[in-house]
Amino acid sequence: MTGRSAFSILLAAAPLLGILACGHKAPPSPPDPSHIPDITAWQPIGGLRPSFAGPHRGAWQRTWLNPEAAAALDANQFQPWPDGSQLVKEALDKEGKRLGWFWMSHEQGAWVWGQAGVDGRVTWRQAGSGNACAACHVKNAPQFEGAFAPVWAGKGRLHIGIGSSQ
Ligand code: HEC
Repeated sequence: MTGRSAFSILLAAAPLLGILACGHKAPPSPPDPSHIPDITAWQPIGGLRPSFAGPHRGAWQRTWLNPEAAAALDANQFQPWPDGSQLVKEALDKEGKRLGWFWMSHEQGAWVWGQAGVDGRVTWRQAGSGNACAACHVKNAPQFEGAFAPVWAGKGRLHIGIGSSQ
């Protein structure tokens, strides 16, 4: 067989391989833990709002979902969220200047919580429920596995009025 015909067989098989690969999606590889991911192609949700609570309190905030989290939200898959889901919150001051970043990344069945400064470099990161981030999130949004974003999408209410006050 010439190199050329081997190549055309490969080309012909490519769509089939694509279909097969689709059915067996490999678990998404975990993100680079040292830096907030590039959110430029992510989906914003909820608009720019004053932050209600926690370390975000008093700041303005904007929430972003990666494609996995956006698909999970559409499909009401947030109990639990699938691994690969990521939610990022941008904290801004009144003039729109960035103050820092907050990050939730679903890995191996649990949220990994992260915090970063203005430049996006992660200064603190911890998995699981034994930290202040998880304590507040899970207590107030247990029906969404600790993520508040489904509220912005009209998926349910909470007993605290997030976004309604500073
Ligand atoms: C006392 C409560 C509280 C604590 C502590 C807290 N948060 Fe939040 N967080 C919230 C609330 C409420 C929202 C919803 C938006 C808002 O009002 O700011 C939120 C939103 C977020 C979001 C956007 C995704 C979502 O859930 O909608 C991320 C990401 C986030 N927080 C990460 C963190 C991290 C990381 C920490 C710890 C360093 C932390 N949070 C600590 C209350 C808290």
